[in-house]
Amino acid sequence: MKGILLAGGAGTRLHPATLAVSKQLMPVYDKPMVYYPLTVLMLAGIREILVISTPHDLPLFRRLLGDGSGWGLRITYAEQDRPRGIAHALVLAEEFLDGGPSALVLGDNLFHGAELEQRLAEGRAAAEGGNATVFAYRVSDPHRYGVVEFGADGRALSLEEKPSQPRSEWAVTGMYFYDGRAPRRAAALAPSPRGELEITDVNRGYLDEDALRVVRLGRGYAWLDTGTHDSLLEAGEFVRAIEKRTGEKIAAPEEVAFRKGLIDADQLRVLAKPLRNSGYGTYLEALIARLD
Ligand code: TTP
Repeated sequence: MKGILLAGGAGTRLHPATLAVSKQLMPVYDKPMVYYPLTVLMLAGIREILVISTPHDLPLFRRLLGDGSGWGLRITYAEQDRPRGIAHALVLAEEFLDGGPSALVLGDNLFHGAELEQRLAEGRAAAEGGNATVFAYRVSDPHRYGVVEFGADGRALSLEEKPSQPRSEWAVTGMYFYDGRAPRRAAALAPSPRGELEITDVNRGYLDEDALRVVRLGRGYAWLDTGTHDSLLEAGEFVRAIEKRTGEKIAAPEEVAFRKGLIDADQLRVLAKPLRNSGYGTYLEALIARLD
């Protein structure tokens, strides 16, 4: 399975902080925001990743992530000329995906939870079997999101994009698994009144044919959106608190690559060395030391 990391958009809710730099390159505590969704793809066992961003920001992503080989990945890039919608990422990725299944993740979404890896593996397996998976999270302001309504049996009944009267508190998060049909489905959509190809319309297509799994991330999971000044700071505080308390980092790509066997201890040592000054490198070195 291949991955798509969508990291474009205008980031207007974070102005003026994002006037010169992409939102997804802003730090969430100790690392760039994009590391969080990137490591989610890595935890799903994905090694080939297409990063999509604006013409202006793409060079900065290349500088940060390169070709991914240092982390055992193959990262390539595509431009989105303007924010044409989340589903437009699938259209841009059609050639890259070459008819295969995909995982799409938004560059400003942060997921955390002990069983996340298992949930991702299930989403991946379902996509490889012809079904789509989205993850829902309970929020206090559902009208800002795609909202899923559940029936008494727990199955999804409806999906609505930014409804003025939400039918539930369950928002669809920015992590999606699709089978090979998704790019064609996205390309066939008409743009919404706000001029975007809506991912909710893609998901509704799967729902209508009973091919959509909606997995609730309940107790034990955190989903943080980092799109506003407050939510960005809160996400940083969350990561700081967890990392201090557990002594483990959330979303360090070097560590995930090492744990997933994509790189060995010698390669991790090489990655750690230039990062020593910030403490991030000494953290990585301590991981190796624990093995010795
Ligand atoms: P949004 O939160 O809808 O938009 P935004 O991030 O540009 O922010 P703002 O509302 O402050 O202007 O986007 C969610 C994520 O998807 C975010 O990471 C940006 C990305 N995105 C794209 O890359 N291209 C798009 O066409 C859209 C709609 C979003």
